[in-house]
Amino acid sequence: MKKNRLDKFYNKTIDQRIEALMNGDYLETQSIDSFKQAFVLPEEISNHMIENVVGTYQLPLGLALHFLIDGEDYLIPMATEEPSVIAAASFAAKTIRLAGGFTTDISNRTMIGQIALKNIKNKDDAIQAISEAEAEIISIANNAHPSIVKRGGGARSINVRWLEADAEHGTPAFLVIHLHVETLEAMGANMINTMAEAVKPFLEEMTEANAVMGILSNYATECLATARCKIPATMLERRGMSGTDVRDKIIEANQFAIADPYRATTNNKGIMNGISALVLATGNDTRAIEAGTHAYAARSGQYRSLTKWSQAEDGDLIGELTIPLPIGTVGGSINIHPGAKFTHKLLGSPDAKQLESIIVSVGLAQNFAATRALVTDGIQKGHMALQAKSLAINAGATGDDIQKVARLLRKEKHMNLQTAKTILQTLR
Ligand code: MEV
Repeated sequence: MKKNRLDKFYNKTIDQRIEALMNGDYLETQSIDSFKQAFVLPEEISNHMIENVVGTYQLPLGLALHFLIDGEDYLIPMATEEPSVIAAASFAAKTIRLAGGFTTDISNRTMIGQIALKNIKNKDDAIQAISEAEAEIISIANNAHPSIVKRGGGARSINVRWLEADAEHGTPAFLVIHLHVETLEAMGANMINTMAEAVKPFLEEMTEANAVMGILSNYATECLATARCKIPATMLERRGMSGTDVRDKIIEANQFAIADPYRATTNNKGIMNGISALVLATGNDTRAIEAGTHAYAARSGQYRSLTKWSQAEDGDLIGELTIPLPIGTVGGSINIHPGAKFTHKLLGSPDAKQLESIIVSVGLAQNFAATRALVTDGIQKGHMALQAKSLAINAGATGDDIQKVARLLRKEKHMNLQTAKTILQTLR
């Protein structure tokens, strides 16, 4: 358990926040300067991460507070360009903490590699031959990547799918073999691609068909993470609105996002505001998680809300979010990027399942905050407060003047840069 909960973190300067982290035993850092240096991405690392490097592109890294997940306290590192995401996550986590926190369920971490075959001569014969050769296919896959087997993981089973030809979309029939691989702490993209490519010629030869490709699938339906929370209606009261009223409106707003893909897209974008910021901050692949999550949102044949809000028998509000989360705690840039090394440490060096629990909880928190705001104050109120601060900084305010200008600016009819400049001049 950490020593303090970082009260008034929002009102501190950056240096004071770092100091509070050091005093609160959240960090081993010796000094504010060494903390700041720890994030700098040296050229010799960046130049090896991608091609044609000319520099680095920075984003703010902030911390969402108050998260209590499966009985553990977490400070959540988030890299994002969007104001109000961290404030919203922290607000939601504060309420949910008082209600007992988040509980999570994480499935086995099994990733999928696909080998697609076309021009199958006899569908039933091919399916039978492949099914009978399962042990051999698994052995070829594991021999292609023996180190994961040594660590206790590896290919475990196969699944054979037949996709009918579709005249409307002009696609031929495909026979698709899924290789199920336990990747342990890694996301495992390279490992799975190596295995899928190794199995491909064997399948081609056996079926006398043509392989289209061997590649991992980012639709990681065998690697699911679920977060839940249960909030008493009394905690939802909001200026003139009763708790039960807010609860019912949150449920109704969620029903709208389940029914309408136009709303579902915005609803799920809000969920990804938190998830992508944390996935990015931990050195994981944001696009893999985003693609898999949106595909999962469309699993019924229609794109829907990823969250489900409902009323418990005792009248509490229940929230649930399930998404595929094929993230890793090793591999890729995680062990070499200084920022990623820091964020894993700050999270207490969680294993991959714990990291999934944290990420899915952040997604649920983000959706709670957005939906609650939308059915009560509207989201502009919170956004405008941050916008006022940003205008104050743009107008040249520094130190204490930032808050002063922002406060006065919010009282003005026209909240713009010119008004911010005028207020600043008057103050000075
Ligand atoms: C803004 O980035 C995200 C929201 O639009 C999400 C939502 O509407 O649920 C506030």
